[in-house]
Amino acid sequence: MASLREDRGAAPLARPRDPHSFSNPEYVCVRHVDLSLRADFDRRVLEATAVLQIERNSEYPYAPLILDTRDLSIHSIEAASQNESFKSVRYDLGPPDEIFGTQLTIELPPTATSIRISYSTSPQATALQWLDANQTAGKKAPFLFTQSQEIHARSWIPIQDTPGVRVTYAAQIETPKQLFAVMGDGRQTKARRDGSYRFSMDRPIPPYLIALAVGDIEFASTGHRTGVFAEPSILRSATYEFAEADRMLQAAERLYGAYRWGRFDVLVLPPSFPFGGMENPSVTFVTPTLIAGDRSSVSVIAHELAHAWSGNLVTNATWSDFWLNEGYTTYTERRIQEELYGSSRAAMEEVLAEERLANEMKTLPLEDQLLHPNLEGRDPECIGTLVPYVKGALFLKTLENTFGRQRFDAYLRRYFEHFAFQSITTAQAIDYLRTQLLDRHPDLAANIHLQSWLSMPGLPESAPKAVSPELGHIRKLANEWSADQISVADLSTGEWKAQQKLHFLDSLPPNVGFKKMRELDQRFQITRSANAEILYRWLRLAIRNEYEIAYSKLEEFLTTVGRIIYVRPLYEELEKTRAGKAFAEAIYERARPSYHPLTQAIVDKILVH
Ligand code: BES
Ligand code: ZN
Repeated sequence: MASLREDRGAAPLARPRDPHSFSNPEYVCVRHVDLSLRADFDRRVLEATAVLQIERNSEYPYAPLILDTRDLSIHSIEAASQNESFKSVRYDLGPPDEIFGTQLTIELPPTATSIRISYSTSPQATALQWLDANQTAGKKAPFLFTQSQEIHARSWIPIQDTPGVRVTYAAQIETPKQLFAVMGDGRQTKARRDGSYRFSMDRPIPPYLIALAVGDIEFASTGHRTGVFAEPSILRSATYEFAEADRMLQAAERLYGAYRWGRFDVLVLPPSFPFGGMENPSVTFVTPTLIAGDRSSVSVIAHELAHAWSGNLVTNATWSDFWLNEGYTTYTERRIQEELYGSSRAAMEEVLAEERLANEMKTLPLEDQLLHPNLEGRDPECIGTLVPYVKGALFLKTLENTFGRQRFDAYLRRYFEHFAFQSITTAQAIDYLRTQLLDRHPDLAANIHLQSWLSMPGLPESAPKAVSPELGHIRKLANEWSADQISVADLSTGEWKAQQKLHFLDSLPPNVGFKKMRELDQRFQITRSANAEILYRWLRLAIRNEYEIAYSKLEEFLTTVGRIIYVRPLYEELEKTRAGKAFAEAIYERARPSYHPLTQAIVDKILVH
């Protein structure tokens, strides 16, 4: 990357450069993209044309347009000036970099205003997963979905792939006739399937939020502005699970102002979807593992909805500022939850998260414990820890506690309004905090240790700690039962909430032992649980305690579910023993083809050394 920085020259703006993009938006900036895509399921490629509308800095009339790409085959590049026809231009593709992809430098005629690129994607494109029919719920039709955060949009669109640039887009998608395409542009999608679909997103968004799914997808409404897209065989259960979305949306609007994205729909993906949820505007993508039958995982929906304000409306300018997306969202997610389900449920979620953060911090290098890390030269994937989420949320909670809920709520509302449809840096967010809140109440502000929150590892001494009596009681039971002080008959989990069950499993000693595992299983049939959060924790314990009774379930889980937060720790746990490693390798050989490219890359690293 070192030579690249020189190529781009000094930044004419005071804004720090995004170290994860080759692009030069200070000189030439992409404002709008017209995409035309044909999904070829046989070859697993998108045949595409992208027309980019550009805006140029008049002080630099000779600046080239620099785009990010990864594994794209470029067929032709042309430029046009206002009202003129497209003509070929010269371009250069740099050497491919494993993390950042390939810089595409395009020579611009001085008057050019749009660039037409015709290209095709690679079957290995990191943002795309192409699934055969047998990897879907219905097993009848193939499926394709994109996942572009953080820097994978460049593997299906040649673009300035930095969250600091925002574009509007229009898209025309051609698919096999029996399939349906979803992109989420805030409008009600047409019902008819004919293999040709148009979308038009007129609010400027960062490239990582451009999303597409194609498959045997149907729609069911859950409210005026909300609904569910899913394969027909799971549509009913999904509609039940996410039926509260409309109420969540109303609660969020009461707190943070108007929802600016038209509709809020949820799209349920096949089980290989690598994340819990992804906040693509107007249509949140989720894993089917949220469908537990009891609405116990709807915090993920609250979370992705909260991103409609923190993340999608006000966006982190670079991935170092990721806490502006995830910390704010984790905080506002809890507030939405509190509105719907009351403060005791929100407190339970908080305790669980804080505990997981404390555990994770024990093994994280100091530089990865910072809210605002320096990511120069690093894969932005490394920010995928709880630090930006939970530490970020704790910082905002500290502000709430210090200035009072009323004042802080009013402040946050103004923050979203002030920075609406902008991408901002940590410095900008902190400046605004200073002038709009801290400086106005210097006596209260004296209690806020900004430096330790922003630039120190760990958590400040003064960080708030969530308390939940409902969970405290569970921890006590877990301790007593594992120490044989009470019997399994004393655990009446029938009345326990899902979070209490999770906390019970989290509170058991890792080496609780085969006998105890069997006792618990016989009483509560945990190996047969339909709740993925419970099952994941149980299977991790099963590996640690060589509880072989659950191994066939473990195999089934790992060959169907590709959600990284489950898959990674299970393979890591298996990898620790020789027998476990052999088992893991056998499972992975079968499972790998159905995993997402991101999941594959992670498991490859765990098992190959
Ligand atoms: N935007 C994230 C998912 C993400 C982050 C994808 C970084 C790629 C790179 C999303 O909002 C998220 O945080 N999802 C969580 C669920 C949430 C409730 C913590 C997840 O997927 O587990
Ligand atoms: Zn998030």
